[in-house]
Amino acid sequence: MVLETFSQPQKNLGITLLSQRELDKMRRVGKLAANLLDYLESMVKPGISTQELNDRAARWMRDRGAIAATLGYAPPGHPPFTGSICTSINEVVCHGIPSRNQILQDGDIINIDVTPILDGYHGDTSRTFLVGNVSQQARKLVQVTEESMLRGIAEIKPGARVGDIGAAIQKYAEANGFSVVRELTGHGVGRKFHTKPEIPHFGRPGKGLKLRTGMVFTVEPMINQGTRHLKFLKDGWTVITRDRQLSAQFEHTVAVTETGFEILTVS
Ligand code: MF3
Ligand code: CO
Ligand code: CO
Repeated sequence: MVLETFSQPQKNLGITLLSQRELDKMRRVGKLAANLLDYLESMVKPGISTQELNDRAARWMRDRGAIAATLGYAPPGHPPFTGSICTSINEVVCHGIPSRNQILQDGDIINIDVTPILDGYHGDTSRTFLVGNVSQQARKLVQVTEESMLRGIAEIKPGARVGDIGAAIQKYAEANGFSVVRELTGHGVGRKFHTKPEIPHFGRPGKGLKLRTGMVFTVEPMINQGTRHLKFLKDGWTVITRDRQLSAQFEHTVAVTETGFEILTVS
């Protein structure tokens, strides 16, 4: 007697394929994550601290029965993360830690990355926001980064390859004079925060793992204004550009469907 069509042990190269029931849960948490970014966007203004954004996000998630996957997150080699969100300003590439003495300034760009857990499932999404009046070059970086993510996602369908995603992102970013971060990738997501497969944001068409219906992963390119090279700070988390030029990032959680893809982190 089949009571559950859910959490099935169906695996492919160790990659979990989600059932319709699990996808429903991912849709729910994905929408929650996107709604949280909408809420935080309304507070992004010169003068607010990243701690205040963090605290508002923590309360917002708690009020909706969700918890922040980032709080206390401690993969091997990292101390526990102290934020309920990541806040990455200007030359910070990702994993910026919210802090009382970090105040948004006119002209900054800030990526806010949120990962609520609802009913056991993770929704992982981020956007880069403009703070007040931002230079033309920085605005172009942000626009190109979002478009590169969307072009990567547009490659997703059963039978396509992971390399198709990365190649589309890299081609568009580099054609616009920017560089693609290589050390950090998209990742499988579901009951776990970070799982297989890895999704590089660079690559060659037709290469890499073949996509299958039911795979769920993030696409989250980090695009730099200068060189692609990074510096990992001693706090164990913050990643900055080696040349201190700007970096932007956008992230969606996406499912591979029978006909193509479904973006799960939409508000
Ligand atoms: N949300 C990030 C990602 O896209 C991971 C943040 S982990 C943290 O994968 F500990 F830095 F919060
Ligand atoms: Co994220
Ligand atoms: Co992610």
